[in-house]
Amino acid sequence: MFKPVQIADGIYSVGCRDWDIRDFHGYSTYEGTSYNAFLILDEKNVLIDTVKKEFADELLDNISKIIDPSKIDMVISNHTEMDHSGAIPTVMHRIGQDKTVLCSKMGEKNLKSHFSRPLNLKSVENGSELNIGKRTLSFIETKMLHWPDSMFTYLKEDKILFSSDAFGQHYAGDCLFDDEIGEQIMSHAAKYYGNILLNYSSRVQELLKSVTESGLEIKMICPDHGVIWRDNPSKIIGAYDKWSRQELSKKAVVIFDTMWNSTAKMAREIAKGVESLGVSVRLMNTRKCHRSDIMTEVLDAKALIVGSPTLNNGIFPVIADVMTYIKGLKPKNRMAAAFGSYGWSGEAVKILNQEFQAMGMEIVDEGLKIQYVPDKVALEKCFEMGRKIGQKIIGE
Ligand code: FEO
Repeated sequence: MFKPVQIADGIYSVGCRDWDIRDFHGYSTYEGTSYNAFLILDEKNVLIDTVKKEFADELLDNISKIIDPSKIDMVISNHTEMDHSGAIPTVMHRIGQDKTVLCSKMGEKNLKSHFSRPLNLKSVENGSELNIGKRTLSFIETKMLHWPDSMFTYLKEDKILFSSDAFGQHYAGDCLFDDEIGEQIMSHAAKYYGNILLNYSSRVQELLKSVTESGLEIKMICPDHGVIWRDNPSKIIGAYDKWSRQELSKKAVVIFDTMWNSTAKMAREIAKGVESLGVSVRLMNTRKCHRSDIMTEVLDAKALIVGSPTLNNGIFPVIADVMTYIKGLKPKNRMAAAFGSYGWSGEAVKILNQEFQAMGMEIVDEGLKIQYVPDKVALEKCFEMGRKIGQKIIGE
């Protein structure tokens, strides 16, 4: 399904596409994903990253179309997560169990914890270099981008950055390069950043700063998922700079669930109130929208307005799921407000406000709770609440 492609002189993309996956550990992957791996032919032949275990044979088939896999001298594991390391045992069995697997210090520890079969692991220092013939590889530690073991490998002569998960996108279409797909890849990249890297934004800022200060030239970025940035790598670097600074738009996301349509009615009126001031709004029903799509909209939204019915003295379970997910990704600089319909106890708004406080969000309205079905007066209150939040957003 995926033939190897030469991406630069003697450098091949040999990874696999996963057309079927629709749930990537809780992240919706409507267009599948790819597990990229790269083969460099030189005096020493190097394989950078592998693929998910189930695709090991396909990876070896791809490599076989270029060289006999036993001619690979070493494997570099930029990241331990199983979508990139799962095939390592099979690959090592095929190329030679004694061949070296290079990784970061944490990678050495983590790979040992993942596989019972012994591997010839060798850790590399941050900034260290390795000559493989005509070319030199250098290793850049990128701890917590997004695992403790994560690192980049940089090919000095070709100015190619093999960036592990960073700059990736869950995409398995026909295009291999950014210039083939165009602007539409940015929504995949934004979703990837919002759901995988947002909570590590301060580290992204540190990394971008150190790359700028070191004068590292980057002609091409090869991430472990999605398209290769060969036409304009600065575009995705610029987007990461913006996303990691948490530069926000004049936009509100109204996230809600509903039992008997009352909280939904409130949500629509609040959204209308926000929109009446020209502020962009997304109305997201948690029973219709996947949590990872909600997070993608949260990525650049100044305000989160969350509505939940009260159920068994608490917030609605699906709202609790989404709030836990958002909290873990640590969005910063946000405004927030809560609302919801209730029957007799009505704790949901109070609990949501506690959640906003725990997330360090600025609560811009004390919240609105309406008993049972909102009447005309209640809906006017919702509209006014939306306008108040809209004014706060514009006033920023
Ligand atoms: Fe694509 Fe963190 O694995």
